[in-house]
Amino acid sequence: MNRKYRRTVIAANWKMNMLASEVRAFAEELKQKAGPARWCDVVVCPSFVLIPAAQKAFRDSRVAVGAQDLSLHESGAYTGEVSAAQLQDIGVQYVIIGHSERRGNFGETDMDVNAKVTAALARNIRPIICVGENAAERDMGVTIERVTLQVKTALAGVPASKMRRVVIAYEPVWAIGTGRTPTAEDAAAVAGAIRALIRGLHGARTARAVSILYGGSMTPANAGDLLAQPDIDGGLVGGASLSPSDFAAIIHAANPDNYQGITTA
Ligand code: 13P
Repeated sequence: MNRKYRRTVIAANWKMNMLASEVRAFAEELKQKAGPARWCDVVVCPSFVLIPAAQKAFRDSRVAVGAQDLSLHESGAYTGEVSAAQLQDIGVQYVIIGHSERRGNFGETDMDVNAKVTAALARNIRPIICVGENAAERDMGVTIERVTLQVKTALAGVPASKMRRVVIAYEPVWAIGTGRTPTAEDAAAVAGAIRALIRGLHGARTARAVSILYGGSMTPANAGDLLAQPDIDGGLVGGASLSPSDFAAIIHAANPDNYQGITTA
């Protein structure tokens, strides 16, 4: 983390879990266990249908509510889709874009991701852009090439003025839901490469303002090490975000008071 230049973001990706009846109890327990957590921005991303329930349950807190996807189309005959305008209309502040489960299961391409990022930014919704290599790409040693191409394509046409609203999540596909993670140093090296790419595109001031998260089997046990890396500015948490106490523990792991002695560039 580097709190001087950018926000720390701890985001929950609930995926296709939870029911409306469970959201309130989750919110009460999280609020009680995490407290105001002023050292970071906390985001919860439920399924579309649970967004109003989550907004209501977190109304009296600093927790923001996001979506897990949006349509790349503006409006019209796209049955089943949800537009950026509709998300903005109900007050959604963040949207996860290009998660590997959408890329892998629903054929989403880097170009689709770019269109969705553009759609979100046009409606003032902060995109959390997911990128990451799969196991074969990692074994071949092409992680940095793969990830930088994904980021470059996702950000095509995004002006520097909007970059401060962009969040990037580095999620190695082989680490999602597997209990396996890269070392904190390896994850930070990829986050650093992403920041270097943004520096090349938009300059140092913009690059140092963008929050880059790590995702993939983040737990209370490994969050401290990952979040202590200067280039890792938070987490996108799947499985562990379904437990209010585990998610609260990860939020507490992001408290810089736990990192005295670590200096950041
Ligand atoms: P897990 O934390 O369950 O590995 O999921 C990570 C993820 O996909 C977050 O988007």
